[in-house]
Amino acid sequence: MIYVDAKGVRIPAIGLGTWPLRGEECERSVRAGLEIGYRHIDTAAKYDNEPEVGRGIAASGVARKDIFLVTKVWNDALRDGDLQRSAERSLKALRQDYVDLLLIHWPNAAIPLRESLKALASVKAKGRASHVGVSNFPVALLKEAVEVCGADLLCNQVEYHVGLSQRPVLSYIRPRGMMLTAYSPTAKGGVGSDALLKRIGAHHGKTPVQIALRWLVQQDGVAAIPKASNQDHARENFSIFDFELTPAEMAEISAIGGDDRLIDPTHGPTWDPA
Ligand SMILES: NC(=O)c1ccc[n+]([C@@H]2O[C@H](COP(=O)([O-])OP(=O)(O)OC[C@H]3O[C@@H](n4cnc5c(N)ncnc54)[C@H](OP(=O)(O)O)[C@@H]3O)[C@@H](O)[C@H]2O)c1
Repeated sequence: MIYVDAKGVRIPAIGLGTWPLRGEECERSVRAGLEIGYRHIDTAAKYDNEPEVGRGIAASGVARKDIFLVTKVWNDALRDGDLQRSAERSLKALRQDYVDLLLIHWPNAAIPLRESLKALASVKAKGRASHVGVSNFPVALLKEAVEVCGADLLCNQVEYHVGLSQRPVLSYIRPRGMMLTAYSPTAKGGVGSDALLKRIGAHHGKTPVQIALRWLVQQDGVAAIPKASNQDHARENFSIFDFELTPAEMAEISAIGGDDRLIDPTHGPTWDPA
């Protein structure tokens, strides 16, 4: 396992995504993921699967202290009071006393960011979230949160894969010791057909998806949370710690860059240029 070191916190660089898993399939996926060795699990209030995630964790027998558990507050619960209630509902559904990281899932321009961040900090102060952060925040909003509102954020979770550069966000978070968690890190499996990744993969005896994930977690401050309900995929995505990409390979993959954004809802913010 590679670990991200963010603000002195050690986070497993590969986590398990759980959206849009529900019911038995979700519980099985979480339990199997923990058995494979995953120690970082990503869920959200909006995914409507927190009870299943909690059951999967319990069934795995893995000690809670060894798991980095992340959940998120949806963008309609960002008022002071609403946010804390959402966090409490998540903890009850997960059957947990705390989560390791609580994120604002999407920004909401109709609610003052300062109010949401203060509410988020109060959940942390009560020990119900060890760390807090945001998701889908472009640099302008990160600046507002950190520099104007003084928020102590561990993480910004954003879409990041070989086809979508996140250079502006990375340049912002790195000097501040924050982490970037890459969602849709395999571009929903799409990286599997990339010719460059195939060529580099052939050299290492790895699949293009494994190369795409290794490229992410080999970067400073970057974690990735691929979702895989297929257990062969889950094992494949975790088997990326027995080889290393050369600096030249890292640079070649980074040069793909691009703006191939897959998740772009109407309620989303104005994104940074690629
Ligand atoms: N913060 C946010 O707004 C946000 C937004 C989107 C996602 N997320 C989080 O990020 C997680 C991952 O994102 P995502 O699900 O959008 O994208 P993803 O993990 O890049 O892609 C998941 C898809 O790729 C397939 N796949 C996984 N491993 C594979 C492999 N080795 N070979 C071929 N195909 C493979 C999966 O198939 P199988 O399932 O059949 O194995 C699934 O169809 C989500 O589950 C969620 O936890 C957060």
